[in-house]
Amino acid sequence: MEHNAQQAQKEDIMAQNTQHSKASSSRRSFLRKGVAVAGAGTIGAALLAGGVPAFAKERSDGLTSGDVAILRFLAAIEILETDLWRQYNELGGIQDSEVPGGSGSAKYTAALQVLDGDMPQYIHDNTEDEISHFTFINAYPGLSTGQFPAIPRHDGDLAPKDHIQAIANTAGFHFGFIEQGGTSLYPSLAQGVTNLEVLRILLSIGPTETAHFQTWHDKAGNAPALTDPTNGLVFPDLNAAPFGGEDFQTNLIMPEPTVFLSRTFPAVSIIRPTQIAGSGGAVGTVKAWTADGLFIGQSREFLAVLNQLAEAADAARRG
Ligand SMILES: [Fe+2]
Ligand SMILES: [Fe+2]
Repeated sequence: MEHNAQQAQKEDIMAQNTQHSKASSSRRSFLRKGVAVAGAGTIGAALLAGGVPAFAKERSDGLTSGDVAILRFLAAIEILETDLWRQYNELGGIQDSEVPGGSGSAKYTAALQVLDGDMPQYIHDNTEDEISHFTFINAYPGLSTGQFPAIPRHDGDLAPKDHIQAIANTAGFHFGFIEQGGTSLYPSLAQGVTNLEVLRILLSIGPTETAHFQTWHDKAGNAPALTDPTNGLVFPDLNAAPFGGEDFQTNLIMPEPTVFLSRTFPAVSIIRPTQIAGSGGAVGTVKAWTADGLFIGQSREFLAVLNQLAEAADAARRG
């Protein structure tokens, strides 16, 4: 949402931070374990071929096979998004009956609160939103539903202080990364929808992903500059050279005008990318989440099914 060069640079930095931290912190193994366990349960039931109900045929009430393909893919993505947020909520979110299953980690929660005092509440609320997203979409086309299991984290990551803070900083950036995906995915896929009610579903859920993204964008900007003494992960001061300036000023979270459709038009503040379905928005999401390490340890079958769902969603054409 910023000018091209700075945006690319910023994305590089974020990607590097995420990758470095994932290569060396135990959070990845934590996520890997979580998703692997989930794979044996809900994902298996909801996504793998044998567990998917035969609803791929056209419904009598005006849904095309393209509409169904888009909903199926979004349901899969929302299940995965929910699983991710549940894991954060279990350790860093408010523990209550709306999002049950966690125990909370006082030290991790305190480190997250360095970014913003509201972090536990926001993590909780984002998790609740994701549960509502997949539950609703599942109910609408009749997908099977289920829950992902909770995963505990070992105590070795709670010290030293800059290590647990680096983990919380990484979370702060990761939150934005995940929600950025949803922010682009819904407007991209909406362009392939035929049925007006399905379009309404996408247009109603999509902007909540954008609300999530902007919130986490704001919190990531509060991540303190530090170097993790256990693995060398560096969080730079984004308000100092060679960063700094309006494009990097971390309290500024409104979009910046950029190129849209053609460089012959004036710059405009938009959500991007939003290429139409058929150009790879869904497949791109799976690729990005795979590169993020979310599916490490998953079976070939799981990835094949997820990619089939994505390709079918991308192939949907309005008509
Ligand atoms: Fe969502
Ligand atoms: Fe989301």
